[in-house]
Amino acid sequence: MNEGLSPNTFKDMYLAELQELVSVESQLADALLRMAGAATHPALKDLLIHHRAETEIQKQRLVTILQKHGADPAAHTDQAMQALVKETRKMLGMLTGDDLRDAGLLASAQKLEHYEIAAYGTAAALAGQLDLRDEQKMLHRTLDEEKQIDTLLTQLAKREVNPDALAA
Ligand SMILES: [Fe+2]
Repeated sequence: MNEGLSPNTFKDMYLAELQELVSVESQLADALLRMAGAATHPALKDLLIHHRAETEIQKQRLVTILQKHGADPAAHTDQAMQALVKETRKMLGMLTGDDLRDAGLLASAQKLEHYEIAAYGTAAALAGQLDLRDEQKMLHRTLDEEKQIDTLLTQLAKREVNPDALAA
């Protein structure tokens, strides 16, 4: 949460979490584009591009909820995501060889997804506590999509990308 932000109620806290998530999705959309551009395995490239499209829809869900509450969707920057994206860039700069870079890209993508899974799990729980059932459903839909992409990334890592990187 940003400095200077002082949510006074449970609902304020919930909305602040959603504002952070808008920033997470925005940063992820940019990062996925760069990561897809750097990926070599076609299946990995496709997954990253596919999830980038999902990311845009997920961000729009958050904006819809925030606007309903009269809250500014662009109010916050998620600094944890900034740090994770920075780590991704740093690691990619150090990895040489297409297969090894792909394994690193995939590992980074999963760390970013796990952060989202944690954040959406929390946001959905807060919506439930506030009895905002429609919003909780929307957040759960996104959470399911994040879990699904994580599963697909795991399968791709085990079957293809990591074995190729090991053999390189
Ligand atoms: Fe997402």
